[in-house]
This record gives sequence, structure tokens and C-alpha cells, in this order.
Amino acid sequence: MDFKLSEEHLMIRDAARDFAKQELLPGVIERDNKQEFPTEQVKKMGELGFLGMMVDPKYGGGGMDALSYAIVVEELSKVDASCSVIVSVNNSLVCYGIEAYGTEEQKQKYLTKLATGESIGAFCLSEPEAGSDATSQKTTAIDMGDHYVLNGTKNWITNGGSADFYLVIAQTDKEKGHRGINAFIVEKTWEGFEVGPKEDKLGIRGSDTHTLNFNDVKVPKENRIGEDGFGFKFAMKTLSGGRIGIAAQALGIAGGAYEMARDYSKIRKAFGTEICNHQAIAFKLADMHLEIEAARYLVYKSAWDKDNGNNYDMSSAMAKLKASKVAMDVTVEAVQVHGGNGFVKEYHVERMMRDAKITQIYEGTSEIQKIVISRGLLRD
Ligand code: CAA
Repeated sequence: MDFKLSEEHLMIRDAARDFAKQELLPGVIERDNKQEFPTEQVKKMGELGFLGMMVDPKYGGGGMDALSYAIVVEELSKVDASCSVIVSVNNSLVCYGIEAYGTEEQKQKYLTKLATGESIGAFCLSEPEAGSDATSQKTTAIDMGDHYVLNGTKNWITNGGSADFYLVIAQTDKEKGHRGINAFIVEKTWEGFEVGPKEDKLGIRGSDTHTLNFNDVKVPKENRIGEDGFGFKFAMKTLSGGRIGIAAQALGIAGGAYEMARDYSKIRKAFGTEICNHQAIAFKLADMHLEIEAARYLVYKSAWDKDNGNNYDMSSAMAKLKASKVAMDVTVEAVQVHGGNGFVKEYHVERMMRDAKITQIYEGTSEIQKIVISRGLLRD
């Protein structure tokens, strides 16, 4: 067992850390206030290779491991969780989904653009009546021979307005239940596809979340991913990797808030001394650090499982469950350490507290992670 990061991982961590400080920190408060999508920042992340980190270089990706990806998402999230969710969805849901299960033609046509950041992707599973209960898909994909016709609505879609390509999950044969579900690559410009209004959110306000409507959208058969009926398993398998990304995001939010609380406690004075000299504050820092470290081991272990060809359904669920709870707890405490200033936007921690909440909800709520973990335990 080796707890040390390799030279390569340290270099990647430092590159992401510098980028986050130099390119994401300026303007992060304004983007949150205005709900402004970080167009320029996404472009730069694409140039740095952050949008297709694990993709094979022959498709324009970085050919890196899942641990590198988790480290980058963690570092970006310390500063701007709106940017890191864009990175996470593009890498581990969209790029991974196409690379692992798509055809060579799909990879050449779509993955090469998604991996370089020339195009952005979105993953469309959730619906008004199918959030946690993901098998209850109401969006239909009727088989017309050489094409499918898509109809329905998708909700809370990250990158909903800014994406170019959408992975859409839909029901082809209701009789077959989850075995009658398919996944498709849909292009934004296709007739009948409509981006609905942008959501006004509590957190990750720089990311762009929309409802999407599909009205008789004609999807060529070659845009189906995998065999007929593979769509639900495709979504589940892809989400297991996505959860490593969201776990890393939660870890980064917690880490960023902790560092701010620690630094603030060294300069803010009360009762004649810096507040870190009061045990009430020092113990909070100790608890925050301890929990972050515990979460980090689970997140990195899950990435390691993926890199080593182990099943990571359970470990990614455990990482996400733990890290998202730590993100919530640590950010609340970081606001507390900052006192009145913690309630003010200028000090960042209130935004981090708002951003943390979504990590307990998207890519499977904490309750869903417990289903995945308990079923994994009881299966054997
Ligand atoms: N890998 C492969 N197959 C899997 C699987 C996995 N990880 N998990 C389940 N399956 C298979 C099962 O084996 C079963 O197939 P068989 O019947 O052939 O054996 C089939 O899928 C159905 O599984 P279940 O019977 O377990 O289905 P369920 O209805 O009980 O639901 C669930 C399972 C885990 C609760 C699932 O519905 C789930 O994960 N829900 C949460 C959905 C979610 O995470 N949504 C996030 C939206 S995307 C998002 O947030 C992205 C973003 O924008 C940030």
C-alpha cells in the first residue's frame, strides 16, 4: 500500500491548483451572482485537456487515469464548483459513456470533439417523474426501422443550454421495463429538440441547468449506444464513474472551505488573540481536517478501483456518500468560523455551503447511494 501520490499526480495537482487560482478565482463571486456560465474558463480548461482527461489520446484525450481526474476535479472544486461539475459531467458521464460503449463511428464523430472541449456534452436521465426512480422513464424512443422518434421531457440537466451533444435515455419498449430502455446521442441542432428555461438554483449557479423537451426528434439508428435495451445498464455503469467525479467535487468544496476557515482563524482576533488559539475554533479545524482526510481515502480508493479494473459501483457510492456529507458539514462549520463575515459573499464560504448541498443530490441522492451500498453488501 502506498499513500504517496506519484510525481505525475503531484504535477497534475499543481497544474489544476494554479489554474483554479489564476483563472477561476477572479470572477467566481460575480458568476455565482449573475448565474453566468463560465464560457471563457471552459474554453481554457479544454485547451489544458481537463475536459477529456481519461480519453485515449487517439480520440484527442489525455490518456490519464481516474485518480488524475479525481485530483483535478478536487482542485478545481476548491475554488469553483460550477466549473468542476462541467468537467465532471463531460469527462465521466459523456466522454466515458461514449468511449466505453460507443461504436468507432460514434467515437470519431462525437468523442474527438468532446475530449478536446471543442464541444460540450450533457447526460439526460432525470425526468419530472424519474429522478431517484430512474427506471420509470416516460420519454419514449419509438423504433421506426432506420431511426427512432424521441418524445418527452428531461429535467435538471447540467450543461443543458451549453452542450452540443446530449446522451439521452428513453423507453423504447414499455413491456420490457428497464430492459426496454435505450441510450442515444442527440445533437442540439436537430429538429424538435428544445432547450427549456434555465433553473434559478441555490448553488453551483455558474453551471447551466435546464429542462429539455423532445418533440418528435428523429434519431438515426446509428446513434443508439450499445445493443437494443442496453440503455438502463449503460446509465448505471456510467453513473458509477460519474459518482467518483462528484465525490471528488464534494471533497474539493470541503477542502477549499477548510483552508479558508484555517487561514481566517489565523488572522481574525477575538478576546485578545487570533481565534485559532481558542480551543473552540482549533477543535473545529481538527474535526474538519479529519473528516476531509477520511473522505479523501474513499475517493482516491474508488478511483484506484476503476484504474485497476475492480468493480467500483460500491466504492464510488461510498465515496460520494461520505464526501458529500463531509462537504456539507465542513462548509457549515467554515461559515461558523468566519462568524458574521461567513454570511457575506465576499468571503466565499457561504457560496461553498450552498454549492455543497447539490453533491448530496445529483448523480444519485445520499439515500440512493445507501441502496447501492447495501445491495452490494447483501449480494455476495
Ligand atoms: N451496473 C450494471 N447494471 C446495473 C447496475 C450497475 N451499476 N445497477 C443496476 N443495474 C442493473 C440491474 O442488474 C438490473 O438489471 P437485471 O434486472 O438485468 O439484473 C437493472 O439494472 C435494474 O436494476 P435495479 O433492479 O437495481 O433497479 P431499481 O429500480 O431498483 O433502481 C437504483 C436502482 C440504483 C435505485 C437506480 O435507479 C439509481 O441509481 N437511481 C438514481 C439515478 C441517478 O443517479 N440519477 C442521477 C441523474 S444524472 C445527473 O445527476 C447528472 C448531472 O447532471 C450532474
